[in-house]
Amino acid sequence: MKRRLQFFIVGVLVLSLLLLASCGADFGVDGNAEQTDEGAEGDISEREDLIVVGVCQVGSESVWRTANTESIQQTFTGDNGYFLIFNNARQKQENQIKAVRRFISQKVDYIVISPITEDGWDTVLKEAKDAEIPVILMDRKVNVSDPELYTAWVGSDFFLEGKNAGEWLEQYLEKKGMSEEEIHIVVLQGTEGSSAMIGRSKGFESVADKHKNWIILEQAGAEYTTAKAKEEMKRMLDKYPDIDVVVSQNDDMTFGAIDAIEECGLTAGEEGDVILISFDAVYTALKLVEAGKIGVDVECNPLQGPYVESIIKALEYNWGFEKENYVPEQVFYKENVSEFLPDRKY
Ligand code: AHR
Repeated sequence: MKRRLQFFIVGVLVLSLLLLASCGADFGVDGNAEQTDEGAEGDISEREDLIVVGVCQVGSESVWRTANTESIQQTFTGDNGYFLIFNNARQKQENQIKAVRRFISQKVDYIVISPITEDGWDTVLKEAKDAEIPVILMDRKVNVSDPELYTAWVGSDFFLEGKNAGEWLEQYLEKKGMSEEEIHIVVLQGTEGSSAMIGRSKGFESVADKHKNWIILEQAGAEYTTAKAKEEMKRMLDKYPDIDVVVSQNDDMTFGAIDAIEECGLTAGEEGDVILISFDAVYTALKLVEAGKIGVDVECNPLQGPYVESIIKALEYNWGFEKENYVPEQVFYKENVSEFLPDRKY
């Protein structure tokens, strides 16, 4: 009896190990799962009727990112004729590179990548090109020696977003009669080396450079997350007693900045101590624009799934398409935000 129980326990253990192995998770040296690929139901090789798309996402760091993931998942469904393999790289480029290599060995029909950072893509993109798998970049860009290494790109004009933020501040200060005053600015930046961080920083600086009285006290990296932004904002509020403007490169960081500002006994908004400039324009942030806490929110449009699909369709049917595709975006401030709020779904 005792012996049968031992056999039973060993059997359960072996079965659990086999099940874990078949889940396709990658295990890092610390034994934690780094990432998993979520496939649609069934085996790829048996789905010759569907177009197989491997999507490599940055992570799930922001409300924007969740909306972007949903846009992809709602577009590439079985009903629409696709077999989606979705990979969440958890903010690590090495995970993205491993995922792309897996997609190549799985012989997917298309690879879609939202690159975490711009650099470091030449080798793996060359591998995809050699395997004759078209790569469509989504959201952010790559910095490669040969632009033929990817087929097309869909995303935002991050430079324009930053410039729009700067021009809004220019007009706001003029309206308040503060154009000649010394303005102290701090910037909460997103992931170092990402297109969104690079473009928004350069775009804002292109306007700031024209104003000798705009003093950028510090640009602090806060990884597009609320927690890190709150920490950085608290540190900067301690260091600089006279911050007039916070440029926060996404809404999630803006939420953290507001917490820090309020915990320091200060207020944000037109009548308050600090002017907030934000990016993304998710629903919760737009409500804060309406309430006057955020001065301006420059939209970054996450609904990119249908644009990526239109490129895949063009490739399938041999239609022409543009290599660079900008998604439509606008700028929200107190005077115009209310009319757009009811339609904001994320
Ligand atoms: O690349 C787009 C940026 O990445 C969005 O502004 C941000 O919220 C996201 O995480």
